[in-house]
Amino acid sequence: FQPGDAIYPRDENGKMIYHETDLCATWEAMEACKDAGLAKSIGVSNFNRRQLEMILNKPGLKYKPVSNQVECHPYFTQPKLLEFCRQHDIVIVGYSPLGTSRDETWVNVSSPPLLKDPVLNAIGKKYNKTAAQIALRFNIQRGVVVIPKSFNAQRIRENFQIFDFSLTEKEMKEIEALNKNVRYVELLM
Ligand code: A2P
Repeated sequence: FQPGDAIYPRDENGKMIYHETDLCATWEAMEACKDAGLAKSIGVSNFNRRQLEMILNKPGLKYKPVSNQVECHPYFTQPKLLEFCRQHDIVIVGYSPLGTSRDETWVNVSSPPLLKDPVLNAIGKKYNKTAAQIALRFNIQRGVVVIPKSFNAQRIRENFQIFDFSLTEKEMKEIEALNKNVRYVELLM
């Protein structure tokens, strides 16, 4: 394979071929995109603290990442990364905020289904909301942006109905305590 021929190129032994491009050089190219008016703001995805620091400490940094899109939901709450990002005004955008579609081709299904969680369902009953709405409200209430996916019009609407109630501090703590530090999206490649 030549670069660009395949989305996930592999070598002749089936091993994933990694990109050798320096992430800091990529960031500089993204800064140029912003200066050219091609992007309003620029951010990163799946960056850990070490990788964020590499950008933040880059000599001549022009724009900080505004966001870091990572897996985030009540079973994977990202407490340390969230705190670090808060300190640096980087917004966490949480993907798989409902615990994914549990598609076995890419999801670690050994972690139990998030939306069946008894605590989320019990809190939902109190507010006449679903476990999905509680999972989303939990994250937006702690400053995490959520990007739930649904192919269903009713559920897409449901996922917006999270701004007419708020969770108590005790409930926020209860949900935080559900953290298992286990990812659904392991990206093992
Ligand atoms: P569907 O497309 O049939 O609604 P994530 O956003 O964490 O990746 O989760 C996506 C999965 O969650 C999809 O399988 C989607 O199924 C389902 N889903 C989306 N919204 C809801 C909801 N409000 N209640 C239950 N399941 C939902």
